[in-house]
Amino acid sequence: RPNLSFHAMDGLCLDDVPLASIAAAHGTPTWVYSAATIEGRLAALRAAFAGEGLAPAIRYAVKANDHLAILGLVRAGGAGADVTSAGEFARAEAAGIAPGAMVFSGVGKREDELRRALAAGIGQLNVESAEELEMISGIAAAMGVAAPVALRVNPDVAAGGHDKISTGRKGDKFGIGFDDAGALYRRAAALPGIEAVGFSTHIGSQIFAPAAFEAAYRRVLGLIGALRGEGLAVRRLDLGGGFGIPYDDGTAFPFAAQAAMVRRVLGGHDLELIVEPGRWLVGPAGVLLARVTLVKRAGAERFVVLDAGMNDLIRPALYGARHGIVPVGAADAAGAPAPAEVVGPVCESSDRFGTHDLPELAPGALVALLDAGAYGATMSSTYNGRPFAAQVMIADGAPQLIRRRQTLDELWRDEIVPPRR
Ligand code: LLP
Repeated sequence: RPNLSFHAMDGLCLDDVPLASIAAAHGTPTWVYSAATIEGRLAALRAAFAGEGLAPAIRYAVKANDHLAILGLVRAGGAGADVTSAGEFARAEAAGIAPGAMVFSGVGKREDELRRALAAGIGQLNVESAEELEMISGIAAAMGVAAPVALRVNPDVAAGGHDKISTGRKGDKFGIGFDDAGALYRRAAALPGIEAVGFSTHIGSQIFAPAAFEAAYRRVLGLIGALRGEGLAVRRLDLGGGFGIPYDDGTAFPFAAQAAMVRRVLGGHDLELIVEPGRWLVGPAGVLLARVTLVKRAGAERFVVLDAGMNDLIRPALYGARHGIVPVGAADAAGAPAPAEVVGPVCESSDRFGTHDLPELAPGALVALLDAGAYGATMSSTYNGRPFAAQVMIADGAPQLIRRRQTLDELWRDEIVPPRR
């Protein structure tokens, strides 16, 4: 990982900043992000497509990491946002992303959310059902606006690193069935309040094979050709996100091959392209910095208990995901590694981060859970009375606190206890 380095004196560093110094200043658990990594990956993604003569609009999937400072980097890098709620929409707007550079996805957009997005001039609504299309038509017509609509097609392609993050198969709740999409597009083109701009497809997350995307794109392209043949205008294709990152090990996503495939399959078809990467842009940019609370020995087992748990990083508990775990301290890292069960403090058997080869770690030792920049902080909760962790961003060589640790009294600050008679 190019943003991580190990220094004999300072131990593990992110962008040359010792993680131990961040723990000393801000405590643990703390999310630490590298701004340079996000900027670099955004530029690399753009360059991969540019190498094929393509310039898809980048609409960052806000759900991966919605911190305003990260959205600010995305905006400064010339990208827009893929949002799934009024909350994400408002966040992206607060970060200075123009509504016209946003797409709004999701199976359950509410009327008030749609109204707000339309009033602001949202760039595209990705419509997931016939019912939603009718609803948008009614809302937009009453508002006197034309809603720019792309139909999200479910291409019935199996892809995605895990059952729970596959979305493009028949039976998944997402998108419009492939066989119904043509008729619905004709309907969209005729409905008041709708400007049918094209299609979108998103087949899942943590995908590595360009061939999986290709199968989906080819199906949708066939549909577009047929509709154009009938004289309907289809100008845009939103390719979704889903580009995988290597977690504990594995290979990098072949972006050059992906871009070449996109050109080969979709080039020359006069389509405005959109991509919606989330994980790929921010995942490798972040670590979760945690401290060893104690080491519990049970027979031959060594449990390394951290002060970070599934309430902070739920991916291992929810998907069986595996994040690399490395010692931070220079002396710790020098020890001989042996298998250890790394667990969190939450009262759930699933609060475990897996078996990792780690040296002897004394209470107080620091570890970093790697590739935690995506679907980390955004999925955390305060379960078991555990406050939201602090967040730090390293930018221009300096670590800056970008979210202070939630305090204990903030845990119940918004609760109302009704008086009893
Ligand atoms: N576009 C749409 C319509 C999506 O639903 C998603 C992710 C993305 C783009 C971005 O996908 P990405 O490029 O990040 O793979 N919580 C799970 C991942 C859920 C992804 C949901 N949708 C995880 O931690 O693995």
